[in-house]
Amino acid sequence: MSTTNFQTMTILHATCHVWSCYYHHCIIILNMSKKDFNLAIIVGTNRDNRQSIHVAHLIEQVADKFPGFKPQLIDLLQFNFSLNDTEPSQSDPNYDKLIEAADAFLIVLPEYNHAFPAALKRALDSEYAAYFHKPVALAGVSSGPWGGTRAIEAILPVLRALGMLISRVDLNFPQVQDLFNQEGVLQDQAYLPRVEKTLQELLWLTQSLRWGRDNLS
Ligand SMILES: Cc1cc2nc3c(=O)[nH]c(=O)nc-3n(C[C@H](O)[C@H](O)[C@H](O)COP(=O)(O)O)c2cc1C
Repeated sequence: MSTTNFQTMTILHATCHVWSCYYHHCIIILNMSKKDFNLAIIVGTNRDNRQSIHVAHLIEQVADKFPGFKPQLIDLLQFNFSLNDTEPSQSDPNYDKLIEAADAFLIVLPEYNHAFPAALKRALDSEYAAYFHKPVALAGVSSGPWGGTRAIEAILPVLRALGMLISRVDLNFPQVQDLFNQEGVLQDQAYLPRVEKTLQELLWLTQSLRWGRDNLS
């Protein structure tokens, strides 16, 4: 082969390689932007007459219209967890299935005695791998003025132990008994952009971590 032919072949080969990388990159971006990520909204209490359910429904409604997320309510009332053990065999398979399918989590977290409900800890403890390297945002709820801030602070080490990546954007619903009417309809529209901002940041984390889980070892 002449030197000129060899140079031409080398340039062609390099060009093909660049185009192939570019094409591959575009496909990844296209697939990710078309995708609806599964957002698991966990209602963090199974108490009768809980106000947190209104907060969870509000977030679900906003997420439903938010491009990029497919919300799924995970209500702790619907599952049966053994209280004697946290072995995987003592988990609820329906809970496991939903957690495995989730790309992101938003936990609605009522404040009980400056921490979060035991029912939520029990549910979280029943899984491990299905939470790993997935993002989570937190919505604190309280009847007092702090909007569940102390519950949020208390759960951070737990989520870190599970290998979750925590969003820096929280939601807080103080005096929740005044925020919704009897039918659970939000009375203060100022919360809507706050929910959207939280979802925006969570979506960024979701896309990044989904790419990481799919492409990095
Ligand atoms: C066992 C228990 C402890 C609570 N401790 C606090 C607290 O420390 N601070 C606070 O602001 N509200 C506290 N509350 C009130 C809750 O914040 C209130 O019930 C609120 O509506 C959110 O929880 P819910 O979804 O269970 O209704 C407590 C409620 C329960 C049931």
